[in-house]
Amino acid sequence: MLFSELNRGKCKTYLIACEETHEAALVDPLKERIDRYLALLAYHGLKLTAVIDTHTHADHRTAIFDLRDLVGATAIMHRRAPAPHIDRHVEDGDTIPVGKLSIQVLATPGHSPDGISLYVGDRVLTGDALLIRGTGRSDFAGGDPGAQYDAITIKLFRQPDETRMFPAHDYRGNTSSTIGEEKRLNPRIAGRSRQEYVELMNKLGLPLPDKIQEVLQPNQSALDDDAMRFPSLAEMNKVRQRTAHEVQAALQSSPRPVIVDVREAEEFNGELGHIPGSLLVPLKELPARASELESHKERSIIVVCRAGVRSTTGAAILTGLGFDNVANLKGGMLDWSDQRLPVERWSHDDG
Ligand SMILES: [Fe+2]
Repeated sequence: MLFSELNRGKCKTYLIACEETHEAALVDPLKERIDRYLALLAYHGLKLTAVIDTHTHADHRTAIFDLRDLVGATAIMHRRAPAPHIDRHVEDGDTIPVGKLSIQVLATPGHSPDGISLYVGDRVLTGDALLIRGTGRSDFAGGDPGAQYDAITIKLFRQPDETRMFPAHDYRGNTSSTIGEEKRLNPRIAGRSRQEYVELMNKLGLPLPDKIQEVLQPNQSALDDDAMRFPSLAEMNKVRQRTAHEVQAALQSSPRPVIVDVREAEEFNGELGHIPGSLLVPLKELPARASELESHKERSIIVVCRAGVRSTTGAAILTGLGFDNVANLKGGMLDWSDQRLPVERWSHDDG
């Protein structure tokens, strides 16, 4: 196996390649370094087959969408990842082949709901779940310090002590550690109970990363900021959130709310299907097509997407355009489908 960290900075990108077949994967690639990655792959004669993000990043723009489009690599993220254009959604226990190598997926949520760790050979890439002598913050939307404690102690700390660990970030110049060292020496988690860990994480009071919205929104939507003006964090925080069951109950009432689905057409007709009667208006087209919703202005509007993240952006955009009665389906079609609520799927074979 070829293995190296490519950035030598705070954000880590790992190259994993099979020496026999010359197939390669990049984990957590940065958008501003695409040219460097492609040059390096060409220099080593490697074919990039997989691009994997360990979670939706809040501090740098991801390169997985560009690399997918440029070289046809498969974009891979956890099932809970909110973005469109993910070719393969993985869950705990899945494997990702890279030539003759097999990367095992461990679901390690907590820093974000879509966090995964990747176990390959004698090492584990821990994303922002477990850092060297630290842990990823759990105070962003969807963060959960209790889930993070469970992921670290149940999934990661049960790997053999000698397992080498490589995090997605490091702010102190460390480059690697082992599971055994972190179990003994990690000051956030070593010797702490779940409750003590949750209390510690809840009072960290860290400032938000610079430009968090300018980074998160494109990573969550696979849209560039030149393609649309994204709402501010304050506008996003004002959006009313409604659970799948609340939306289902509203659909039985009169007047029925209008369901606006802001995913891409292939998602609308894909695996998760869509809520019967919903209107498809992809997020990118929403500002220009909002006039189509004018006739429904007196009814309530519920905006829907995959994970409830892009639709929060959509709901904030509509509110900004003067629609008063707008809410978001919390957890999106993922929660809707987990609750086994009715969906409709169109297939081209239906005529
Ligand atoms: Fe992160």
